[in-house]
Amino acid sequence: MGSMTALVATLMLWSSMALPAQAYPNYAPLQYRLRDVYDGPSFFNHFNYYSGKDPTDGYVSYVNKLSAQSLNLTYATSNTAILRVDASTPNPGPKGRQSVRIESQRAYDSGLFLFDIAHTPTGCGTWPALWMSDTLNWPRNGEIDIIESHNTGVQGNEISLHTLGGCSMGGERRHTGSAVSMDCDIAVGGNAGCAVMGDSSTYGADFNARGGGVYALEIRDAGIRIWVFHRDSMPLDIANGQSPNPSSWGAPLADFPGTNCNIKSHFRNLNIIVNIDLCGEYAAMASHYTQMSGCPGSCADFVATNPGNFNYAYWEFRSIRVYQAV
Ligand SMILES: *[C@@H]1O[C@H](CO)[C@@H](O)[C@H](O)[C@H]1NC(C)=O
Repeated sequence: MGSMTALVATLMLWSSMALPAQAYPNYAPLQYRLRDVYDGPSFFNHFNYYSGKDPTDGYVSYVNKLSAQSLNLTYATSNTAILRVDASTPNPGPKGRQSVRIESQRAYDSGLFLFDIAHTPTGCGTWPALWMSDTLNWPRNGEIDIIESHNTGVQGNEISLHTLGGCSMGGERRHTGSAVSMDCDIAVGGNAGCAVMGDSSTYGADFNARGGGVYALEIRDAGIRIWVFHRDSMPLDIANGQSPNPSSWGAPLADFPGTNCNIKSHFRNLNIIVNIDLCGEYAAMASHYTQMSGCPGSCADFVATNPGNFNYAYWEFRSIRVYQAV
């Protein structure tokens, strides 16, 4: 190679490295094949029950599998799987009200996940979440909060990603939700993550009154996208479950393109986690508990002394289906 050619080649290489790729990613269709189905009476057999101390400081006592079954806090039949908060103990004392947190035994790096949900939990003091994380390697392997809400849940679903530094969501996005924070780095903004709000139909009473629906999550190198479909507007390829094709669904509720985030390096080995925390860092905040939801007194006092408040604090899943690109 002549020295001039070599110099030009070096400059071109240097400039392509120095300029970060800013283009919106290519979400060309992938071919998905069904890998795992969580449903029916064996739904809970694919999950571990987390029964340690709540790492997020909730007024909650997570029970193990045997206790959850005997207290009927988890319950599954051929077409439903329910996770609930203890709604009968008059005053559970300092250890907190009993609830459940389950974590899938399988972990995933990518794929298409269809969460068919008939009911989302609501009630003052509740902090429910459906999320994916590698909790033993957090935040290195990332966290995807597919559904997160608090208290009465009227504000809608807050979707967010949480990562190490170097993952942010500036630039073009194609989604219908409202972006409320851009940096996914847990060290920024008090670990707010990069978050997108859905409207009031995406969670709680409104979502439940429509019979719930399907949350679809796609994790791929190009980006992470989340759609929500109410039961009366379900795409046919989701309803029949054969070969779902996200590129036929229109704009998602939340689009987290890989433009300024290396998705593959920030998100891996993720377990599916479903829980209902009580009070804690998110639900007990005055801005959430008192101002947004109008809940009375102090969160822990209210949760301790109002068991009947938890009659609607339950998740009801019809199924979870996991597809992987072939
Ligand atoms: C457990 O909960 C389910 C769902 O709410 C209910 O249908 C069932 O009767 C309960 N079982 C017992 C033993 O209470």
